[in-house]
Amino acid sequence: MEAGHASAEMNVGWRAGAAPASASRVAAGAGLSIDRVSKRYGSVVAVQETTIDIPRGEFLTILGPSGSGKTTLLMMVAGFEQPTGGDLRVGAKSIVALPPEKRNFGMVFQGYALFPHMTVQQNVAYPLMVRGQKGPDAVKRVKQALDQVRLGHLADRLPRQMSGGQQQRVALARALVFNPDVVLLDEPLGALDRKLRCEVQIELKALHERLGATFLFVTHDQEEALSMSDRIAIMRDGRLEQIGAPGELYERPGNRFVADFLGESNFIEGEAVGTGEGITVYRAGNRQFTASACSRRAGEKVLFALRPEKVSIATASSRGALNEVSGRVVHWNYFGASFRFEVQTAELGRMIADVPAWKGLASPHTGMEVFVQWERDATSPLAAS
Ligand SMILES: Nc1ncnc2c1ncn2[C@@H]1O[C@H](COP(=O)(O)OP(=O)(O)OP(=O)(O)O)[C@@H](O)[C@H]1O
Ligand SMILES: [Mg+2]
Repeated sequence: MEAGHASAEMNVGWRAGAAPASASRVAAGAGLSIDRVSKRYGSVVAVQETTIDIPRGEFLTILGPSGSGKTTLLMMVAGFEQPTGGDLRVGAKSIVALPPEKRNFGMVFQGYALFPHMTVQQNVAYPLMVRGQKGPDAVKRVKQALDQVRLGHLADRLPRQMSGGQQQRVALARALVFNPDVVLLDEPLGALDRKLRCEVQIELKALHERLGATFLFVTHDQEEALSMSDRIAIMRDGRLEQIGAPGELYERPGNRFVADFLGESNFIEGEAVGTGEGITVYRAGNRQFTASACSRRAGEKVLFALRPEKVSIATASSRGALNEVSGRVVHWNYFGASFRFEVQTAELGRMIADVPAWKGLASPHTGMEVFVQWERDATSPLAAS
């Protein structure tokens, strides 16, 4: 499907004779509104009544499992797919009826498909050319776009004479050269190795800050989402599951799906015993634990997420100072900066803990008896779904 996107981008988005970019420029400050947008393909509902308001200049990341509707949503914003319901607006103006080339949105799709027979400069100049923009101004813009991605010195190279990361940056320059109001990026870093990916991430973020354009970025990679975004929208089965700032989503996931999808979690299911003085007492696995006060009444079911890095592993009991269960190490790994422990406990089943290496146990081994400990405010309450 991704290759199809790339060719659609070239054949439709930058069709010869398209209107000049300036014709569709929106007022500075206008945000993008995705308003109850749906897309059906026959009986498949790819996107269902999704509403997201994106202020101008925001870096919004859409994160979600495969098939959750991320690409479909981006394709509708771009204009390559028509919504079956809802509206898309820039400021107060609906853009649903506008063809892609009149939306003035830059696009980078996975696979980045540069024209192989064109030099870097020609690739970047292409969207200007199809918009009828030639001459010294276009040359200047191409140079600026290439400088923005730090590739000015490679303008005469062919794509095959460049590294993957460099080609990726050419694709970015090509999406930015006509000063788009919105930049749509569908897993643009997917093909890069880890190190290159980190480099391009930093560049992309810096570019976003310099340009002030709205970025709508799709990724599978949760770390990428957490480190780059102003806000993250999590999609599941064509619906928006939760949206918020990275720290908000990570620290206060709304439900089990979000807690599991964005980062990892231990889950503790139990029943509230009572709440008072800032503390909720709950029972799980026939033991009582404490959490920061949450709005559950005595007898109500509770579900908490507990991030692995908020769990400590000790060889001695905290003697009631912390929430604690005992267990046996069933698996452990060393990652340089940290250890990961998997501990089988009688009360709460298998629990995972990520412990900074400098705090790690002196000589961890499988089968060793340990105490799994966590502070009261380490757990966050979740809705049941
Ligand atoms: N042209 C189409 N015809 C029928 N169904 C489609 C079409 N395009 C997408 N779908 C379906 O819509 C759903 C959402 O697809 P979409 O490509 O938006 O997912 P995605 O979140 O981008 O997934 P991935 O992470 O794998 O790229 C999927 O169930 C997919 O099979
Ligand atoms: Mg996709």
